Amino acid sequence: MTDLRAGEVAVFAPPAQDAGLVFIGLIGTPWTRRADCPRQGAPDGPVCTIEVFEPWVAALDGVAIYASLEILYWMDQSRRDLVRQSPAHDGQSRGTFSLRSPLRPNPIASSVVTLMRVEGARLFVRGLDCVDGTPLLDLKPDRREFRAPGYCSK
Ligand SMILES: C[S@@+](CC[C@H](N)C(=O)[O-])C[C@H]1O[C@@H](n2cnc3c(N)ncnc32)[C@H](O)[C@@H]1O
Repeated sequence: MTDLRAGEVAVFAPPAQDAGLVFIGLIGTPWTRRADCPRQGAPDGPVCTIEVFEPWVAALDGVAIYASLEILYWMDQSRRDLVRQSPAHDGQSRGTFSLRSPLRPNPIASSVVTLMRVEGARLFVRGLDCVDGTPLLDLKPDRREFRAPGYCSK
């Protein structure tokens, strides 16, 4: 793949190994293009949806007690061969692992979101930054968050 900015370096990325990942849902956002997404989600950003697919809906039991969740998602429009990147287009490149860029060998993104409400298989949250239809990998309680006494999320 070409389209490198000044200072950026691509490598020959080895073929993907099958990690056995399963997309467990889809994220709904107002943004249809990457360029329209915020760089990072914000607590006062728009309400977005996280739809969990069957047979994983039963796994949502208990989620509603949390005010915030950590969401892991798959940046499916990312190239995966960059070792140096220039986010500001200024030729000042940095190593991929020193950035939160979605362009990485395994394009896994994470955000801590505010949970507004749960309706069946659908969560309504604030704090996402991905395009509409981005695949969901996982969700888990925000480990920085207070938990109700006696509750153990394991
Ligand atoms: C900088 S990343 C941050 C992601 C996550 N909050 C993190 O820190 O891991 C967010 C950017 O990824 C890009 N993006 C959004 N959805 C994407 C997708 N499905 N595939 C590839 N890139 C995407 C957009 O340019 C967006 O501004």
